[in-house]
Parts: sequence; structure tokens; C-alpha cells
Amino acid sequence: MAANSFFGRDVISVRDLDRRGLEDVFGAAERVMAMPAAERREVARGRTLGYLFYEPSTRTRLSFQAAMASLGGSSLGISDVASSSASKGESLADTVRTLSIYADALVLRHPLDGSSRFAAEVSGKPVINGGSGTEEHPTQAVQDLFTMRREKGRIDGLTVGIIGDLKYGRTVYSLLRALGNYDVKVHLASPESLRIRSDSVYDIRKRLDFTESEQMDDRVGELDVLYVTRIQKERFPDEEEYIRVKGSYVVGLDVLRRMKKGAIILHPLPRLDEISPELDGTEQARYFRQAEYGMHVRAALLALILREEGV
Ligand code: NCD
Repeated sequence: MAANSFFGRDVISVRDLDRRGLEDVFGAAERVMAMPAAERREVARGRTLGYLFYEPSTRTRLSFQAAMASLGGSSLGISDVASSSASKGESLADTVRTLSIYADALVLRHPLDGSSRFAAEVSGKPVINGGSGTEEHPTQAVQDLFTMRREKGRIDGLTVGIIGDLKYGRTVYSLLRALGNYDVKVHLASPESLRIRSDSVYDIRKRLDFTESEQMDDRVGELDVLYVTRIQKERFPDEEEYIRVKGSYVVGLDVLRRMKKGAIILHPLPRLDEISPELDGTEQARYFRQAEYGMHVRAALLALILREEGV
């Protein structure tokens, strides 16, 4: 078997993952999912994941913890910064250094762009970016592509619509970057003030064709995947501006009826009002399955990072 290129490595940006790397994680996730529980519990037995979350999280942190537990490992960390020495003024560097003494790998979520890259420099152990500012959320993108692959059977050839807060939503930047490895068509739709930051996608433009508009309406019938995102209220410098765009797009039954047969709806979650709950029980709604795949994909990544022989 070829060497496992993830062993001991940081995962900071989707730029660190080319198509081959993505396919390696997908393959590992498939294998992890197929493993009997008893075998899966041997994969990271006795190993520890350290988590450090300076921003709220439900799925990212819990799926990492569930993943580590399913591999027979344990996790420890800080999710309530107010209860840690960070509240006494301890630096991110010292906090990361300390956690890297107690754990075999770290996952960090932090409001600053560049925070994970910085943490990787001071950490003695591999660092996984669990969300850095408005910049990136690489494991979410791996999870998103894995979901498309599982639910649509392929990624090449898909037409993907992405709607929502494209300005502040970090999952979007990681997703676009990851999709740039495949032959896909992408349509973006957002209120004018929440358009994608062009300076952050100049490199993506070279590898990925995408259109931009204020509405997805004309395109809904073409889509294989509709990826919906939340308006990132906490990142608005001006509350007035948030109030202006709040509720400006809602995916409801009317949208679903115009989607083509076999099309699916994804969302990184949390969802507020941008997807109507009446869609939850429909064939097209795959966002909770996406959350489930997140755990398996993260288990696969952890197995690859922690074990030279991979999984
Ligand atoms: C996302 C995030 O934190 O960027 N959440 C997640 O990890 N699934 C999306 C969001 O908060 O809207």
C-alpha cells in the first residue's frame, strides 16, 4: 500500500488537499463506515484528540469527539473559553502549546483568519482547522463533497447552486476551493451586499467556472445540488445591515417543486429560517445525513493523521 500522505500532517486549508488527497479521505471514510464497531475501536485506541473552540459549535466539535470515540480514542479540550486560562489573558500560542502536550492531534476553531496556520506553527502535534474566521472550514468541505459523492454517486458533471451569505460564510470558500478539483458547474446567488469576496476567490476562478446573481430562481431547475447557507449574523460589523438582508432568501416547498428529479439540498447547519422545516422529511433534504457523514469523514481524517499505515 502506498504511503499515507496525511500521517502527522496539519489540515489547515483545502489548498492542502488536491483531488488525490480528497479521494484518499473519501476512500478511508468508506472503509471506516464499513468496519465492524469492534474493529473500528482499535484504530485510535489510547490516542487523544485535543479540541480548542473559541467560537460556538455543535456539529464540528461533537462529530470530532464522536469520531474519536468510535475509533477507540478519547478527547479533551476547551469549548467554553471563559472557563479556561484564555480568560486570564493567556495567549493562543501558549494555550495551543499546552494542549499539544496532552493530546496527539488538535482541532481549533477561532474567529481570526490565519489562526489555524499560526497554531500549527507553535503546536507540537498536527493541527486541524475546525473553522478559521471567514476564511476556511476545510473538514466541512470534505464532508460536503463526500455527501455529494455518496448521495449523487459522483462529483464530476454536477451542477451545484450555492445560496446565502457568500461574503462571510467560510464553508463556501472551502467548498469552492474543493470543487475546483472537479469538473462541475457552479451558480452562486446572494443578496448584493453578501456577494462572494472577489479577492478571496481569485485563485479559485482559475480552476472553477461560476456564475453570480442575486437570485437562484432561473437556475433552480438545472441544479443537482442546492447548497444553502446561514446568514452569519455574528460577523456583520453593522447590525442594520444584517436586519436588511435577514430573511431575504428562504428555500421552501415552492423551490423544491421546481428542482429536477434526484436533486438534493445540503446545508452545513445550523439552519435558521433559510430552509423551511417542512422540507426536512422530503427526499431532497440531505442535510442531516450530511451531518452524519461529517462524523465518518472526520474519523477517516483522524485515522490517517494518527496512523502511518492509515486505515
Ligand atoms: C458552519 C461554520 O461554523 O462555519 N458551521 C459548521 O461547522 N457546520 C456554518 C455556520 O455557522 O453557518
